[in-house]
Amino acid sequence: MAKPLRIGLIGYGFMGRAHSNAYRKVSNFFDLEYQPVLKAICARNAENAAAFAKKWGYESIETDWRKLVERDDIDAIDICTPNNSHAEIAIAAAKAGKMILCEKPLSMDGPEGVKMVKAVEKAKVPNIVWYNYRRVPAVTMAKKLIEEGRLGKIFHYRAKFLQDWTISPDLPQGGAGLWRLDVKAAGSGVTGDLLAHCIDTALWLNGSMDSVTAMTETFIKQRKHTLTGKTEKVGIDDACAFLARFKNGSLATFESTRYARGHKALYTFEINGEKASIFWDLHDLHRLQYFDHKDEGKLRGWRSIHVTDHGGEHPYMDKWWVPGLQIGYEHSFVHQVADFLASLSTGKPAGPTFRDALETQYVCDAVLKSAKSAKWEKVPRVK
Ligand SMILES: NC(=O)c1ccc[n+]([C@@H]2O[C@H](COP(=O)([O-])OP(=O)(O)OC[C@H]3O[C@@H](n4cnc5c(N)ncnc54)[C@H](O)[C@@H]3O)[C@@H](O)[C@H]2O)c1
Repeated sequence: MAKPLRIGLIGYGFMGRAHSNAYRKVSNFFDLEYQPVLKAICARNAENAAAFAKKWGYESIETDWRKLVERDDIDAIDICTPNNSHAEIAIAAAKAGKMILCEKPLSMDGPEGVKMVKAVEKAKVPNIVWYNYRRVPAVTMAKKLIEEGRLGKIFHYRAKFLQDWTISPDLPQGGAGLWRLDVKAAGSGVTGDLLAHCIDTALWLNGSMDSVTAMTETFIKQRKHTLTGKTEKVGIDDACAFLARFKNGSLATFESTRYARGHKALYTFEINGEKASIFWDLHDLHRLQYFDHKDEGKLRGWRSIHVTDHGGEHPYMDKWWVPGLQIGYEHSFVHQVADFLASLSTGKPAGPTFRDALETQYVCDAVLKSAKSAKWEKVPRVK
């Protein structure tokens, strides 16, 4: 009999659905000591919470996260709410001795993130942040190839995350679905929302960053606020581009915008090493492009690896279908749950922990600071 891990999930939007799906699937595909039990869904509107509970199989509902956090029949709190609520919920959950799975970005900024790290470490509760792209098999394989030394010394890291959904000046800011445009709820714009993903992957694959220099732009300066009904100043960055120096000596470029007409979620990264290069594209997420300079000259070229094979060669894939059949976006969340559950058995934390995610927060802070100062800014060390 698997041991139950009783989940209390807060927020039933995009991520509430992605995580619920992962909790439901994981035990069907992974053999683990622990099994998630969908104990309670928390949302402010009881009717909507009840409808969500029925659809996804939650046993109960709560309308106040404070009550959920105090419940004795909950082991882990999953935070799927807008960014400005992560810290308060996580700190209360840690104090109540709950494990925490928190959506990204960890916090509104570095100092808030420090308080969250202190809270979970003081309470000694397992914690993880949902930087799910680490667990797309092709991305996990990129990590393996780098660790095996196949790229050799790394010279360049190049990432971008492009969208086009905020181009219309008529789009309001704030409230359900549009909190990302409201700086008070989001903390920042594309930097904390999209670049945070690119930064997390980059820190994982290429190590810590030393310094950054950035530019940001807010193309639409004012938007109607859904909650106040008034036209208000837009405080988020609509676009951000930055250069970075990594501690390993490599140079990097990062770019993100919600104004790249035609692009919906074009997250790509490329890494160039002395021996080999790799390239990954979220729109083609099961493939890893790989160039190996030691290939025989006449056959040398970029190969497109369909990361769907079994036998332990392609990460996670032996848990799914037969070789050659790909999986998708939602599976990265299933993998994250599986790794988190496995970590409870081994006692070895699954990353990114709050402490790991704080480093991403520090990079975001340095990027936003540099966009204001127009200078290179050092990325503070996580102490
Ligand atoms: N890992 C990823 O790839 C990824 C993708 C999207 C969003 N996110 C992150 O997930 C979080 C949620 O984003 P989303 O896209 O799911 O947003 P969403 O707007 O779709 O859902 C947010 C939910 O939180 C609820 N909520 C807000 N305040 C609440 C409160 N006080 N109590 C209870 N419920 C409350 C809302 O009603 C809504 O159900 C954000 O931090 C976001 O950055 C991560």
